[in-house]
Amino acid sequence: MGSQTTLKILIDSQNIEDVVCRLADEINRDYNGKPLTVIGVLCGSFIFLADLVRKLKMPLDVDFVGLSSYGDGRETTEHIHMTKCPGCELAGREVLIVEDITDTGLTSAFLTEHLKRYKPASVKLCVLLDKPARRRVSLHIDYLGLTVPDEFLVGYGLDYAGKYRNLTDICILEDEAEC
Ligand code: PRP
Repeated sequence: MGSQTTLKILIDSQNIEDVVCRLADEINRDYNGKPLTVIGVLCGSFIFLADLVRKLKMPLDVDFVGLSSYGDGRETTEHIHMTKCPGCELAGREVLIVEDITDTGLTSAFLTEHLKRYKPASVKLCVLLDKPARRRVSLHIDYLGLTVPDEFLVGYGLDYAGKYRNLTDICILEDEAEC
């Protein structure tokens, strides 16, 4: 007996677009034209960030940090590796972290604390998907797209072992037993 992997759509591309528009509206309203530094977390946030920033109206810089804790598996290793530090000046800036998903919360909690060392004016967190069932640390999400069930999700930037990031929908990756 083996297993076959299937994809089931959880959030289709139209729903994603609606959520990204709502988040952009909230961010535009709150910052009200103040310059912003948007920090994306590689690699999963790259598509969400690209869609989000094109809907933001204030002057902004974009930078990325590299953080990884899942390797090629489906469970966090709890060891967060910083593979790329922020390259731009953060002191005195309004900083918005953009994440594709929060699960245990360890990555976002680590990054929020790490960025405070650069003395920004503020650090806020924007997350497209939140999986609170698996939270291990307390986390405040300033801008939340959707709460999702405790399933392994791929697409729209989210991967499994580097695959599926290019899917336009967000899908549940399911293993189905086969005889
Ligand atoms: C994913 C995701 C978040 C993190 C969230 O990154 O992009 O950064 O996991 O998980 P947590 O809340 O349990 O910390 P991953 O380490 O899989 O790297 P990737 O973005 O390159 O896919």
